[in-house]
Amino acid sequence: MLQTIKKIGVLTSGGDAPGMNAAIRSVVRTCAFHDIKCYGIYRGYQGMIEGDFVEMDARSVKGIINKGGTILKSARSQGFRTKEGRQMAYDRLKKAGIDALVVIGGDGSFTGAMIFNKEFEFPVMGIPGTIDNDIFGTTHTLGYDTALNTVVDVIDKIRDTASSHNRLFFVEVMGRDVGHIALNVGIAGGAEEILIPEEDLGLDRLVESLRRSKKSGKSSSIVVVAEGDKIGKSVFELKDYVDQNMEDYDVRVSVLGHMQRGGPPSCFDRVFASRMGVKAVESLITGKSNYMVGMKNDLIELTPFDQAVKGKSKINKELLRVSDIMSI
Ligand code: F6P
Repeated sequence: MLQTIKKIGVLTSGGDAPGMNAAIRSVVRTCAFHDIKCYGIYRGYQGMIEGDFVEMDARSVKGIINKGGTILKSARSQGFRTKEGRQMAYDRLKKAGIDALVVIGGDGSFTGAMIFNKEFEFPVMGIPGTIDNDIFGTTHTLGYDTALNTVVDVIDKIRDTASSHNRLFFVEVMGRDVGHIALNVGIAGGAEEILIPEEDLGLDRLVESLRRSKKSGKSSSIVVVAEGDKIGKSVFELKDYVDQNMEDYDVRVSVLGHMQRGGPPSCFDRVFASRMGVKAVESLITGKSNYMVGMKNDLIELTPFDQAVKGKSKINKELLRVSDIMSI
């Protein structure tokens, strides 16, 4: 392999996601395998500005493949949005002799990496880490599979209590801009309705659909709502509307929140993270830069950063139809 790169820095940025530690481990160990020094950068771009680096070797990442969160911590840096901040970060990297960067994060983190690459011609590679699965150019993002399994487990539990009390539950799941989590856990958890930002069902049609469910003999119902859904101002407004229009329903709301981002990564996410870390480091070694590593048809492939950032991640519309049929 062509090798001009001697020191690689790795950081996690934006919202954390299960599997980030497995990705850090993979980057560190792939560096060790190729005799390249590796530096962990704490607190994302903020740590880069402050020079908060630690040298890591293969043993520094022992026992973390199964841990949620990120040992390098994460942050959303305001400083890195400014030219002065990025200059300080560049100076810190140069001083430490770091020649290339692996950024594990979401599209905001990739935009930062892209600008940094353009301004300083600094080699960068991205690993998509977010539970939302909202990045173009990859069928999965790191942490998404784990979050799906976490949420399905919770919905199963909510179903137990919903059916014991003949209640209707609105379960709000994460997904600021996209409905991937809601759509998949809705089908897997047997939800009667799934509300996502991409489709505007409307309050009247929601009530109509719940009436139909009740008439068909269902005593309890679960409606999964993506946090970015636009029907109501909030999931509580949906509850109030249904309360007012369906007096025979006892309605409850469960907002799952940040528990969805925690916990041990699934087998899929651990393997995915390991594969992406290898690809990220080996791509940098062969002189590639400004790409995101991702998965397409079970192959680990590269997508140029500008495409990953500008492109829109789309839901699979077939799932909407499957959900409609399953909830008859
Ligand atoms: O990780 C993505 C995400 O979970 C979004 O779905 C959510 O809106 C957001 O992060 C919340 O993150 P934070 O509370 O860290 O700003």
